[in-house]
This record gives sequence, C-alpha cells and structure tokens, in this order.
Amino acid sequence: MQNISVIGAGTMGNGIAHVFAQNGFSVTLVDVMHGQLEKAMVTIGKNMDRQVSKGTLTAEAKASALSRITTSTIVADGVGNAELVVEAATENIDLKLKIFQQLDEAAPKGCILASNTSSISITKIAAITKRPDLVIGMHFMNPVPVMKLVEVINGYATHKEVTDKIVSLSNTLGKVPCVVKDYPGFIANRILMPMINEAIYSLYEGVAGVEEIDTVMKLGMAHPMGPLQLADFIGLDVCYSILNVLYQGFGNQKYAPCPLLVNMVIAGFKGVKSGEGFYTYTAGSKDLIVSDRFK
Ligand code: CAA
Repeated sequence: MQNISVIGAGTMGNGIAHVFAQNGFSVTLVDVMHGQLEKAMVTIGKNMDRQVSKGTLTAEAKASALSRITTSTIVADGVGNAELVVEAATENIDLKLKIFQQLDEAAPKGCILASNTSSISITKIAAITKRPDLVIGMHFMNPVPVMKLVEVINGYATHKEVTDKIVSLSNTLGKVPCVVKDYPGFIANRILMPMINEAIYSLYEGVAGVEEIDTVMKLGMAHPMGPLQLADFIGLDVCYSILNVLYQGFGNQKYAPCPLLVNMVIAGFKGVKSGEGFYTYTAGSKDLIVSDRFK
C-alpha cells in the first residue's frame, strides 16, 4: 500500500495523516471544511517540530513528510487513488454511515475502508457498503504520533487477509496492533470508560476531590493522566457518547453515564476543547487548574 486517504482533519485525522506521511506514505487528507484542512496542516507541522527539536525527526524528513500530504474538500476526489481509506470523522453514527456509503461508491475496487471509530459497530458500518469484507476498525489513540497502540477491530464480515494487511501496516507505522472483536466499546473503551465514569461518580458522591482522585491514579497506578484529566482530554461529550454505546449495547446499568457527566455535557462543559471540564484550560498554558465548580 502506498496511497492512503484520511477522512476528517480534526485531532485524530491530522494525527493519522502525520504518522502515515512520516512513514513514507502518500496521504490525501479530506475534510469538507477548507479551514479545517489548513488548520490541520499547521498542527501537523508544529507536532513534527516537536520531533525535530528532540532529534527524533530531521528537518529534511519533516519537509518531505509534509510534501507527501495533499488535501481535498471533495470525498470522491480525495479517495480516487486510495488503497486504504481511514475515516476519522466526528463520532456520529448517521454521519459515519453516510460517509461509508460515499466511500464505497468513490473508492477503487479492492480499496480497504477502515474506521477510527472509538465505539461504533464496525459490522454496522460495513453493512451499509457493498464490500463488508474490506471494512475494518483501525482505532488510533490520542495523541496519535505518541501513542503506540492501534486497536484493530474485525467486523463480523471482515476478511482475514484484510486483518493481516492492517496488522502489518500498523507495524510499518511503528505501532503495536491488537486485534479484537466487534462488541460494544471493543477493548480500549470497554475498560477505560467505566474507570472514567467511576472516577466521576466518586467526585459526584463527594468521596474525594478532583485533584485527589487524579493523584491517586497517577501516583498509585502510574497512569500518565488521572481519569478526570483524561476525560477532559478525550472530551466529555465523547466519553458520554461512548458510555451510552456501552449502556445500550449491553443493556447493563453499570455503564450508565454518571448524572454529573450528563449535566456537564448538556451545559457545554466538554473539557479541553471547550476550555473547561474538571479543570480549566487557558490557551498556551500547561497549568492544570481545578475548575472553580469543584473547589
Ligand atoms: N505530536 C507529537 N508529539 C507529541 C504530541 C503530538 N501531538 N503530543 C505530545 N507529544 C510529545 C511531546 O513532545 C513529548 O515528547 P518527549 O517525551 O520526547 O519530550 C511527549 O509527547 C510528552 O508530551 P508533553 O511533555 O507535552 O506532556 P506530557 O508528558 O504530559 O505527556 C501525553 C502528554 C503524551 C498526552 C501524556 O499525558 C499521556 O500519555 N496521556 C494519556 C494519553 C492517553 O491515555 N491517550 C488515550 C486516550 S483514549 C483515546 O484516544 C481513544 C478513545 O477512543 C477515547
């Protein structure tokens, strides 16, 4: 495989384009919003600068990686030559189904269609296409250039040859692939989200404060971020939506999102992306300040 198209130029899409381009692939980054594509190219350049300043990437390698990325606002144009499409659009089932229908029509015969979905059923996405055997989950973690894992999700109809190709490709990217089956939350979020939800419940019930909960998990369990900071980082709306997928998918009360999380999402407090969640965030500052609401 050489030609990769990435659909969606948000945080995950630009990270995925970054790692493919850095590893020698030709990438077409597709987003309906031109401004989002411009922003993504600036972000990729800045993230590569971090690697250059640490000596893990040369300035020449950065320039050639950037030159391998082209952008497009039209899906049909952006996937015309693709051997693999990685969809990283907003986590919304209707949107993803619409995109996969478009991809199925526009991508060449034999092109593998992967989704970076964190929780939507690959089997359901595959079923909207005429090539369900070529549809697979390729779930990268944020920040993509740093995190080693790719959770590879086999839909019910995914062909073994496709899984093998995606495993080998993930290794080429310097990542560690883990193959899992298509059940709600797969593995990553089936385990991560209940932990985050339990941390929010502990805060809601007044067992401990934001800092205490996060410090216990950082210093006691060697997590790089505490669960509340991680929830802010992922996006509280995303956590809420994944918990609902688990709740509905398993029909088990234990996955029901904590009422505090529900309130925060409805009120628009989504974490880093909105400037406030369990912590408050100021552009350009790395300080971790607990939100006044939890002091
Ligand atoms: N691109 C390139 N490099 C990056 C980067 C990016 N976007 N973001 C961070 N880095 C690099 C930094 O330059 C730095 O490199 P060195 O260690 O070589 O100096 C390193 O990553 C650490 O970054 P920082 O020093 O800025 O900050 P930090 O030490 O606090 O680490 C972190 C930041 C890597 C995000 C770390 O806190 C961490 O690992 N957090 C947990 C992340 C996590 O759990 N991600 C998964 C979320 S779940 C998900 O994505 C899937 C889902 O479905 C919800």
